Amino acid sequence: MTPFHRQSGSLHCNDLSLSSLAEQFGTPLYVYNRTAIETAWQEFSDALQDRKHLICYAVKANSNLAVLDTLARLGSGFDIVSLGELKRVLAAGGKPEKIVFSGVGKTTQEMESALEVGIRCFNVESDSELSRLADVAAAHGTVAPVSLRINPDVDAKTHPYISTGLKENKFGISMADAMDCYRRGAESNHLALRGIDCHIGSQLMHLEPYADAVKLLVEMVDRLSAEGIHLSHIDVGGGQGIQYSAHDSTLDITSWAQCVKDAVGQRPLEIMVEPGRYIVGQAGVLLTRVEYLKSNEGRHFAVVDAAMNDLIRPALYDAWQAIETVETLDREPRLYDVVGPVCESADFLGKQRTLAIAEHDLLCVRSAGAYAFVMSSNYNTRPRAAEVMVDGDSAHLARAREQATDLFADEFLLP
Ligand code: LLP
Repeated sequence: MTPFHRQSGSLHCNDLSLSSLAEQFGTPLYVYNRTAIETAWQEFSDALQDRKHLICYAVKANSNLAVLDTLARLGSGFDIVSLGELKRVLAAGGKPEKIVFSGVGKTTQEMESALEVGIRCFNVESDSELSRLADVAAAHGTVAPVSLRINPDVDAKTHPYISTGLKENKFGISMADAMDCYRRGAESNHLALRGIDCHIGSQLMHLEPYADAVKLLVEMVDRLSAEGIHLSHIDVGGGQGIQYSAHDSTLDITSWAQCVKDAVGQRPLEIMVEPGRYIVGQAGVLLTRVEYLKSNEGRHFAVVDAAMNDLIRPALYDAWQAIETVETLDREPRLYDVVGPVCESADFLGKQRTLAIAEHDLLCVRSAGAYAFVMSSNYNTRPRAAEVMVDGDSAHLARAREQATDLFADEFLLP
């Protein structure tokens, strides 16, 4: 069963109708399906079961505690990029020894906190960061576990904003500099070189960029080994794409895993992976109600109660996400731009969509489990939406809707 399906013409999550959830919790509303999250995670687990491996869910994709809790209970690891994400993972029951810390700008305080709790590895992105980490570890009389993030300069063939493995991107250490960086790391008493990693981009639909990147990484592992620097893991990053529209191809996780395993060969390396979108993307939807229908010179607009502050992907990347009615009702179909109330022309959820709707109808934006709520803001002093996790036949409030007064509670009038 798909995470969201129609029963008698009405969209449901498990046996709960999305209309009843909207009535109960209000709109805009994010709804997640626990089983779908578990099933997607399990695909990675099954595909890598014949190798030592660790799945480190990329927390940035959806960091709600109920999502992290779901994954922690499966035994998942986590890929974090900030102290805030570290705190969330620990609060949700994640194990420090299964946490990897990515990101180009880790602060001293972030390094200290991560060392104190004993994370699995720092994915270091520059020579300067490596020196800083060695200093912080020395000051704490400890040894920091390290992987170097390599920028393999391969084209991930995805949107330029979410491509990260090209030399013009800010991420990682170039192939040319990495060997020297490892050598310097090996000289430090406060660094333990454990692995090598990369993350070449997000929403990847092809296997070739993975194959190319992993091949370059394992060649480096071999060269390091010949110099007496022995690594124990290879972290291939995340990026596995999902099908936003029927025109998109699909990425099969079994084939993806086979491609990684083939490139790693029989080297005794633990395989680590950092999927975000694939685990949660299809497991979530955004529910929004039509406030007004209007027409300007033949162009039709559906003004809904969700906006770019709730879901910024369409405005930011021109991303396309399916929009459909929750109930199948007898209305005249028309082409609509689905827009929000924010005062920006970029405030749209979808353009030129055929919808059969009337005012007050409920719409469902699909594939909204990843990079959706987490990228929301309070622009226009709009309280952020509530989030609900459907677990079997019950709906659990995973995040309460913000109140407008909360938004300025930490601001101060002049004396
Ligand atoms: N590992 C690292 C180091 C990353 O930077 C990312 C995502 C991931 C793993 C997870 O990638 P995923 O499996 O989710 O593709 N906001 C954009 C996506 C940004 C991705 C940033 N990095 C979007 O809405 O499409």
